[in-house]
Amino acid sequence: MKNKQVTIIDHPVVSRDLTILRQTSTETAEFRSAIGRIATILAYFALKELPLKEKDIETPITTAKGYEIATNIIIVPILRAGLSLVDAIINFVPDAKVGHLGMYRDETTHQPVDYYSNLPAGLEDGLTLVVDPMLATGGSADDAIAFLKKQGAKNIRFISLISAPEGLERILKKYPDVSIITAAVDEKLNSDAFIVPGLGDAGDRYFGTT
Ligand code: PRP
Repeated sequence: MKNKQVTIIDHPVVSRDLTILRQTSTETAEFRSAIGRIATILAYFALKELPLKEKDIETPITTAKGYEIATNIIIVPILRAGLSLVDAIINFVPDAKVGHLGMYRDETTHQPVDYYSNLPAGLEDGLTLVVDPMLATGGSADDAIAFLKKQGAKNIRFISLISAPEGLERILKKYPDVSIITAAVDEKLNSDAFIVPGLGDAGDRYFGTT
């Protein structure tokens, strides 16, 4: 897929870790480690084009020019599974704010149901990173982005681990100003709206609630 709005990560560590995540035999501890490693690589790409501000600093030897990040960063995990991607981003930007959006997908209608929201101030002039490991029908991402825009967010990036072509297309079409960073675009959705081949239910596997 060639589209400037989407970054699909191509990296041997990601390919190895996606394999670990996809396998049914992978247990919670190994699943968590693999998500953590991929999340670090996703975060690296998601933070790649951050604006910088120059500043003068003193090294032990002389004065020099340094840089600081010139925007506020707001991480917004879609609960629950999105929590699995938060720490990796915080490792790079320890002062990032974190807002939470609670949403689950109704098992019959496959429509997202909102149950919680708590967002920090500053969405208008910051970079909002919405994180959720699975982009399936795109319903949850669509709702989350629409809500964040209504709350004033202007610069939004969506980070997912595995995307279905259906969900990806939905978000790209509806929100041409939102960029997406993902580790894989899978084949399709099945009749239960699960990603194929996918990895099953990311939240259940990450939190050990299967
Ligand atoms: C999963 C996943 C996304 C959503 C993706 O959440 O983490 O939030 O479904 O599906 P969609 O693109 O079709 O909306 P789930 O409902 O399993 O909730 P959980 O995170 O609490 O496990």
